[in-house]
Amino acid sequence: MKIEFVGAASGPAAVAVLAFEGKKLAGPAAHWDKASGGALGRAIAAGRFTGAKGQSLVLQGLAGVEASHLALIGAGKPGDFDDLALENAAASAYGAVKMSGAKTLCIDVSDLSAEQAARAGFAVRLGAYRFDKYRTTQKPEAKPSVKHVEIATGDPSAAGKAFKPLSAIADAVVFARDLVSEPSNVLHPEEYAKRCKSLEKLGLEVEVLGEKEMTKLGMGSLLCVGQGSRRESHMVVMRWNGDKKSKDAPVAFIGKGVTFDTGGISIKPADGMEDMKFDMGGSAAVVGLMHALAGRKAKVNAVGLVGLVENMPDGNAIKPGDVVTSMSGQTVEVINTDAEGRLVLADVLWYAQDRFKPRYMIDLATLTGAMIIALGHDYAGCFSNDDKLSGLIIDASKKVGEHMWPMPLTPLYEKQIESEIADVKNTGGRPGGSITAALFLQKFVNGVPWAHLDIAPTAWRKNTTNPVAPQGASGYGVRLLDRLVADNFES
Ligand code: BES
Ligand code: MN
Ligand code: ZN
Repeated sequence: MKIEFVGAASGPAAVAVLAFEGKKLAGPAAHWDKASGGALGRAIAAGRFTGAKGQSLVLQGLAGVEASHLALIGAGKPGDFDDLALENAAASAYGAVKMSGAKTLCIDVSDLSAEQAARAGFAVRLGAYRFDKYRTTQKPEAKPSVKHVEIATGDPSAAGKAFKPLSAIADAVVFARDLVSEPSNVLHPEEYAKRCKSLEKLGLEVEVLGEKEMTKLGMGSLLCVGQGSRRESHMVVMRWNGDKKSKDAPVAFIGKGVTFDTGGISIKPADGMEDMKFDMGGSAAVVGLMHALAGRKAKVNAVGLVGLVENMPDGNAIKPGDVVTSMSGQTVEVINTDAEGRLVLADVLWYAQDRFKPRYMIDLATLTGAMIIALGHDYAGCFSNDDKLSGLIIDASKKVGEHMWPMPLTPLYEKQIESEIADVKNTGGRPGGSITAALFLQKFVNGVPWAHLDIAPTAWRKNTTNPVAPQGASGYGVRLLDRLVADNFES
């Protein structure tokens, strides 16, 4: 979706304006009401539109205006109109008109600041995301008609300037969503590593390690997960050195990239197993973050590491009761081969702290179904050994509207993962399943300030009404991490 900033709406484009709850039409809404001979006011009087968030009213074929459609978008209460409310309204404007037949939509926010106009464009880019590459027979009328979106603003050139970093973030979110949407026959670990490698064009340094290198490093925990797969496991290390002067240690981001999770020998039920193509959502957030940092040339030194594996049942697959040795030297009894994400992260976390001595480590993973049972689908869970870090993460999550809830990393449940024959076992039973998974990971961070974000609830959304994160791959985490970096780690 191309976004353009213009001085004023012109021609037959559909026009959308914002209306606030409990306030009479003002600014562009009043202007277009007047131009249409009071059509907007009459439409409001005739119905239930109050300007509440989520409401919209689309009028067509009006006399007095050239615009093919006039859309009134509920922006909520004026006192609640923050960046997120604005994003919501702008993406809703696109949503209200996208199927109308109009080819161009102009969102008239000429009374708002250039920064706000830029943010409106950003929201439209996020809301207009689709993954259509495998649809060959869809009828044109089933696809959005709106192909161009203009944002009318008092200062188009200032808005265009403010849009640049936001556009880089939108590119990154789209990149992450595409990775998550891609089926696993296409996006297997090798292809995934290639797509990471392609980001060198943005100025990232990208190293790809294969099974030979990881065997040498002693990554028995990660490697055992891919043992049953025809595809080679990979670890990708991405570095962004945007702050050449800094002597500070980098911040490290680690992602679970299970391109498909059958469960392995502890195989999952057939019903819904297709969802497990999104079991690489944590890694997509990390790759998306690195894309965003490079795209907007962030003044920070960051490293992103992702473990890319496919979990399959096979004659060569790891079996329940098997014991593996991780890179840390700790041995792990694999009780359930479906608790594979933590096996992957164990070695990537250890490698990250061993090689980079990072200030902070943050991992993201679609780690446990129990996280969904605990929080539902709107919140992801945050586990941390560092209250300051978890505070920063929760703050960032509030600013970007990617909800995150703090979870207890309590040693009280350590007993649940004690093994009879090895240093630790990979499952702790059903009670507190997300917590024991986090406790398992903690054994591999070597005391580094760290947070684990279990994004199983939020990586893939069904039946969502969020206008900036439509159905399917949400790209959850990219905006959150980018904001965390921008607000705390950039010089
Ligand atoms: N990838 C799953 C977790 C998951 C489930 C994410 C549903 C999103 C939706 C993970 O690898 C897994 O299978 N976890 C098991 C752990 C159990 C065997 C201890 C689970 O949650 O059932
Ligand atoms: Mn699993
Ligand atoms: Zn998994």
